[in-house]
Amino acid sequence: MNKFQQLWLALLGGLLLAAPAAQAEEPIRIGVILPLTGPYADYGEQIGNGLKLYMKQNGDTVAGRKIVVTIRDDTGIAPEVSKRLASDYLVQDKVDILAGFGLTPSAMAVAPLATQAKKAMVIMNAATSVITTKSPYIVRFSHTLPQISAPMATYAAKSGIKKMYTLVADYGPGIDAETAFKKAFEAGGSQLIGSVRVPVTNLDFSSYIQRIKDAQPEAVFLFLPPGSATVSFLKAYKERGLDKAGIKLLATVDFADDDLMDVLGQSVLGVVTSGHYSMAHDSALNKAYVAAYAEAYGTKKRPNFMSVAGYDGMAGIYAALKKTNGDTDGDKLVAAMKGLAFESPRGPISIDPETRDIVQTVYYRRAEEKNGRVFNIEFDSVKNFKDPGKQ
Ligand code: PHB
Repeated sequence: MNKFQQLWLALLGGLLLAAPAAQAEEPIRIGVILPLTGPYADYGEQIGNGLKLYMKQNGDTVAGRKIVVTIRDDTGIAPEVSKRLASDYLVQDKVDILAGFGLTPSAMAVAPLATQAKKAMVIMNAATSVITTKSPYIVRFSHTLPQISAPMATYAAKSGIKKMYTLVADYGPGIDAETAFKKAFEAGGSQLIGSVRVPVTNLDFSSYIQRIKDAQPEAVFLFLPPGSATVSFLKAYKERGLDKAGIKLLATVDFADDDLMDVLGQSVLGVVTSGHYSMAHDSALNKAYVAAYAEAYGTKKRPNFMSVAGYDGMAGIYAALKKTNGDTDGDKLVAAMKGLAFESPRGPISIDPETRDIVQTVYYRRAEEKNGRVFNIEFDSVKNFKDPGKQ
């Protein structure tokens, strides 16, 4: 080897060594899409609070690379806005990962873009079962409506309830909730005596509730996206005397949202719901989570199931990045998320490698008063429950 060749080899060696160092300096960009204004602004606040809390506790560097998170507002049910934000993130900002998604229409609109760009897309609330089938790059850390509605039907049937009515919001998650509830309830030999789907933005429940009262069911099963709709529903339910008529109310976690418990107050006492997270979940990890949340955001704002999905979604991203050693290739990240299993403030969770959907414990909870505030107190559970909507 002559001097020139030696020099060339030394230079090449230096370049090769320098390449990973240069890459290590590039941050990992996560583009988060959430509703931050409008009727579902609270979802964005909760999910954002959860993901920021995870970063506060775990730092903003993974596998030697800095994590840079941007959060943008899709305003709620506005799929065109979500799509435009995702496109900007992918094309202009060159994000490595998409995350967030408070509502189903937003996740559905963005799914084809994740596929096209081959970027991991982490769902932190949107809960219609079919979402994960819309792109091989989607992984969900929240819940699905069939996952929490089917156990509620089993509970109703076991409690000896024979005459049931359902009321759901007329879009993906509501239809999923109704379908899964009906299937599981009727598997026990009973029949629904009526079902009604209401427009997702509906806030006036009086005529629907009168119809239910006239049908005289023993109980009503409910899914509405939490917020003004759930508050209005409960008000009309009481005003029309359904509780006095002995018509029980059974619902999913979305109804007895921890964040709304101070608004619902005494009127929600005794209501049984099924869900994947309660602020009152009795574990050391959850106690630490609730305390850290209070320290970061104050005690008036209660952490709810959406905050935990934001927190766990971030934990999933960090765990996957550690496995890929900071490689953000969408296929590698999704492969690293498949089969992930860890303890969450909600209890043990894992990602089903076949469906990329979450497997978790579904808890039965009753709204009870404790130290002057109302909480969802868990009294039974179904462990390691997969989304039945996929079968
Ligand atoms: C949804 O749109 O997927 C959705 C919204 C609110 C919930 C659950 C699901 O509480």
